[in-house]
Amino acid sequence: MNIQQLLSAPIQQAMITAGADQDVQALVRQSSKAQFGDYQANGIMAAAKKLGQNPREFAQQVLSHLDLGEMVDKLEIAGPGFINIFLNKDWLAKESLNAAFDDKLGINTHQNQTIVVDYSSPNVAKEMHVGHLRSTIIGDSVVRTLEFLGNTVIRANHVGDWGTQFGMLIAYLEKMQNDNASGMDLSDIEEFYRQAKAEFDSNAAFAETARQYVVKLQSGDTHCLTLWQKLVDITMNQCQATYDRLNVTLTQADTMGESLYNPMLQGIVDDLKNQGLAVEDNGATVVFLDEFKNKEGEPMGVIIQKNDGGFLYTTTDIAAATYRCHTLKANKAYVFTDARQSQHMQQAWLITRKGKFIPDEFELKHFTFGMMLGKDGKPFKTRTGGTVKLTDLLDEAVERATALINQKNPDLSEQEKQAVIEAVAIGAVKYADLSKNRTTDYVFDWDNMLSFEGNTAPYMQYAYTRIRSIFAKAQIDPATLDGQIMLSDDKERALAVKLLQFEEVLLTVSEDGLPHLLCQYLFELAGIFSSFYEACPILTTQEPTKTSRLLLAKLTANTLQKGLDLLGIKTVEKM
Ligand code: ARG
Repeated sequence: MNIQQLLSAPIQQAMITAGADQDVQALVRQSSKAQFGDYQANGIMAAAKKLGQNPREFAQQVLSHLDLGEMVDKLEIAGPGFINIFLNKDWLAKESLNAAFDDKLGINTHQNQTIVVDYSSPNVAKEMHVGHLRSTIIGDSVVRTLEFLGNTVIRANHVGDWGTQFGMLIAYLEKMQNDNASGMDLSDIEEFYRQAKAEFDSNAAFAETARQYVVKLQSGDTHCLTLWQKLVDITMNQCQATYDRLNVTLTQADTMGESLYNPMLQGIVDDLKNQGLAVEDNGATVVFLDEFKNKEGEPMGVIIQKNDGGFLYTTTDIAAATYRCHTLKANKAYVFTDARQSQHMQQAWLITRKGKFIPDEFELKHFTFGMMLGKDGKPFKTRTGGTVKLTDLLDEAVERATALINQKNPDLSEQEKQAVIEAVAIGAVKYADLSKNRTTDYVFDWDNMLSFEGNTAPYMQYAYTRIRSIFAKAQIDPATLDGQIMLSDDKERALAVKLLQFEEVLLTVSEDGLPHLLCQYLFELAGIFSSFYEACPILTTQEPTKTSRLLLAKLTANTLQKGLDLLGIKTVEKM
């Protein structure tokens, strides 16, 4: 159920009948105030201006061609030429009843596109740190939403698994295996990286082997490839443990590391050269882009092959975009990284388009995000200034949630308590991130995110349990409810309207990669439910009002649960 769309199409049609162009936009939006109705059409003014007509007169003509049937009560011309739309109560009641009995909550789940989503994307032999957290959880909630809407999502974990540093890493792995044939501790993969680097810097013979190994690895030497694979596996196993813990849907099968694109790179460089787009410059191969200027104000050169023959991060991303379009046959591709990679992505994709590696209609979207800051407003670090490891962060979340739940609800059984702690701890960390507009930096604050008040995971999870407890108390299974929805009270009506706007918010999340809008929606829904519940008693009311209100409560609980699930956040029945 997409009210916005149901209104837009006929209004646009009426505008065309009234003389506007075929591509005219009705611009139907949710109204900001009840006095402006439920929705507003804001496209009248622009269309009238284009036709050289008085907007209010044009609006009048549009209305004379418009029949929205049972859906609306009243249409009103307001201000300089807006159309205010007041939805009909019985229509809202009928639609919310349908949603209450539908396991998809009345949402159209037939989008049927194939979308590649590149997210998380950590680097081999480096443990995941908080910097990868945002990409992982924002990307995962967009993936879940796209899938719920009926799309096929190809998760692409663009792992950094290739490059010159692998000569050093595999040489060091070999050395460790020789020195210590029995057990080898690679649990601290970062420490391993540091040791390899130290060896490389201090031992000339080792450094020489490392350099030879890069060449061997690149030419497909099996010994080197086996060692390399081992490093990839160790890293990805560690990442998988974190994904599982975070309730993130990535699996090892989704790994599409940089190495995957190796076989394409030389061809891409040659092709760009043949097209005259890439040129030799000091031995390297460079694409000069007029769209970007260097410090001297000249077209910026982007290197795609170094003078030693090595390829770059940009070259790989040109290949990845091409692969996603032609080999994976996707309709579009999304990439989630922090904002510092904006220029890189723009350049890689501009070259991809200039080289005609993908058709114009293949959509590429880069969704960037700001940094996670400490309470001091500086990048989030440990007390001693190191990067915070994700595992340590999650351990702390569990510790804090344990204290909180022990204090809030000591009566839960041990098993219930563990489930609540887990849901709250992981949920709080994820929700704190997801609820902020991703484009800005945000302050990571334990006290805020674990608060039971405000737009937080515990508040949302608690709102869900409160509704569920209404059913538990009355010993009613929501699945067995049978009856009608009637919207007599204003609060009932407001709740129904909000519930029927779920699809609109999911569409924005899936198209613009903005899960904070879903958090905002769920938070508002919980608030509207509270006002409804205060004004409209449920269990103490007579039938048929009682069942009607129970149905609204059921749809609210299911919407909260589904919304949280799309954010990758678990709900519990009691907390
Ligand atoms: N591995 C990269 C990093 O840690 C992120 C890769 C993002 N995806 C891409 N197609 N470039 O910064």
